[in-house]
Amino acid sequence: MAQVGPSTPRIVEQKGLGPGFWPVTYAMTIFNIAVAIWVIVGHLDFLLPSESNPASNSAANVDALFKFMTVFAVAITVYVNGYSIYFAIAFRRRAGEAINTIGPPIHHHERLELWWTALPTLLLVVLMGATYVAWRQVYYPDTAAALTMEVVGHQFNFEFRYPGLKTSLFSPASAMHLPAGKPVKILVSSADVIHQFWVPEFRLKTSAVPGLVTDINFTPTHPGIYDISCSEYCGVNHSTMQAKVIVEEPAAFEKWLTAQQAAAATAPATVSLAGGDAGAGKTTFTQKCSACHAVAPFDQKIVGPGLAKLTDDPAHPQLVDAKAPTPDDIAEILVKGFTGPLGSMPNRQANNLSDTDIANLVAYLVSLK
Ligand code: CUA
Repeated sequence: MAQVGPSTPRIVEQKGLGPGFWPVTYAMTIFNIAVAIWVIVGHLDFLLPSESNPASNSAANVDALFKFMTVFAVAITVYVNGYSIYFAIAFRRRAGEAINTIGPPIHHHERLELWWTALPTLLLVVLMGATYVAWRQVYYPDTAAALTMEVVGHQFNFEFRYPGLKTSLFSPASAMHLPAGKPVKILVSSADVIHQFWVPEFRLKTSAVPGLVTDINFTPTHPGIYDISCSEYCGVNHSTMQAKVIVEEPAAFEKWLTAQQAAAATAPATVSLAGGDAGAGKTTFTQKCSACHAVAPFDQKIVGPGLAKLTDDPAHPQLVDAKAPTPDDIAEILVKGFTGPLGSMPNRQANNLSDTDIANLVAYLVSLK
């Protein structure tokens, strides 16, 4: 009686690796060697910005790791997929063969198993060693830092703190500055949510975590202007959290820092509020404040609290700085910014507020009763 459905497979003995095995192997090997030479000897500036002229001393290690992994990833991809395609074609079912024809089952091949265990293991051990060297240089440097500074992430800007400078600098109004050729230590943290401090051309990236200070150590190699980017989603304006780092000659850096210290010492803490125009203040509020503050009760927060009843709220008789909500104190917060349990508000430089803007904003906020 004829059976319908699967029956015992018909095994055909297939000896060898097929007629095209060695030509295919040579072709793939030549391709992989060509890619390896191009990756190792050539410069990949289109993938690795400034690779031919590294911007930090850690860049070379990271790029070497990248190249090492690229060479092996390309080779593994080419061999695995190339052989899969080759064998599928070479040992396809021929016309006239039964549909249940299979090759001989293979249970063991010890030499093959040894190789496919030993080679990946060796590859991973080498990768681990190279990674350790690159990692150690950033987190456990051999040289003491000539400059230690702090970077604090905020929704949605970076705060830069320098030794001897009593006020912070905020992006995007201010850039970060670093001296070329000097080892620096950057202490990275966050005032609100998790951000990430990333300078692609330095090949350095580290999380900015509230309550945790992470230090990275490196030497910027030569003057230049590079992008700083927040590379961890931190809220609606994450994509705008960008800044610049200016690497300059040590003398120029010292001059800049001294000028910042002098400016901070002489900057007036207060501005004249006479002639503040509430109507103009409303326009400025919409442009510069409404991304973080609603004209609504205190508890309706966006990033910062609602400001509808700033001067007349029995539940919050004081401002966040624990002072009475007088026009002068509102102006002081606008001038200096404020960091507290609710979060952090950038100062006037970061918000680009003129004296007139501040007077107008105070007039507007006081008018919201
Ligand atoms: Cu800060 Cu994304």
